[in-house]
Amino acid sequence: MAILKTEKIIKKFGGLVAVKNMDFEVNEKEIVGIIGANGAGKTTFFNCISGNLEPTSGRIIFDGHNITKYKPYQIAKLGLARTFQVVKPFANKTVLYNVTVGAFVKTQHKKDAIEKAEETINFLNIYEKKNVLAKNLTLPERKRLELARALATRPKLLLLDEVMAGLRPDEIKDMLKIIEKINNHGVTIVIIEHIMQVIMSVSKRIYAMNFGEKIACGTPEEVAKNKNVIKAYLGDEYVIS
Ligand SMILES: Nc1ncnc2c1ncn2[C@@H]1O[C@H](COP(=O)(O)OP(=O)(O)OP(=O)(O)O)[C@@H](O)[C@H]1O
Ligand SMILES: [Mg+2]
Repeated sequence: MAILKTEKIIKKFGGLVAVKNMDFEVNEKEIVGIIGANGAGKTTFFNCISGNLEPTSGRIIFDGHNITKYKPYQIAKLGLARTFQVVKPFANKTVLYNVTVGAFVKTQHKKDAIEKAEETINFLNIYEKKNVLAKNLTLPERKRLELARALATRPKLLLLDEVMAGLRPDEIKDMLKIIEKINNHGVTIVIIEHIMQVIMSVSKRIYAMNFGEKIACGTPEEVAKNKNVIKAYLGDEYVIS
């Protein structure tokens, strides 16, 4: 069953059509990848789903609710969380403080929020960093903090925007394990990633975008073979007809 469905999402910035007629579907418990070159519209599409931007037109259905015009906090309360490509934690606050802010989406009680935050930090193996200020974290730690903030809201669906960008191969391996662990706990995941091998290894299905449009959709093998995808990534001369 689809937990998220978008119908003909269009997002325009003045004359620029950043997202064009995006039809997209994710089933419960799936891991779905989104690939596409820089500026393809991936983050803008996430921004429409999470309520950070209102689509110019189209419809977004999440867990039976039409969330097209909902605000980010309303969407978060329904169980849809996201990470941001450019991470912006409260730099002068601790890891625990930052994650507790996320946990408050689902509770008004400080004790519950802190408990949930501690549990999440532990789950992501950064418990020993809980009293460190966000500004003093290394890049992989900051990426985990970003993930922890989203996860502490107890989402049913998690949107991950390039959580592995800038990580070393061994750090990427660790992050992949974490993503699979989150998914094994029943959380549906949509993941944007540039590194093809990484996204192919973790996703059940992949959507490819180019200039705001869906150019392919299918299993990783199908998408990797798709002529439109090869053309968009490598150029016409690589397409074998
Ligand atoms: N707030 C905005 N105002 C105007 N134009 C924007 C805005 N946000 C994005 N764009 C433009 O929309 C297009 C899609 O950008 P977007 O950030 O969604 O791409 P992306 O696929 O996430 O790229 P990247 O892989 O570099 O993160 C780009 O041309 C970008 O310059
Ligand atoms: Mg982006």
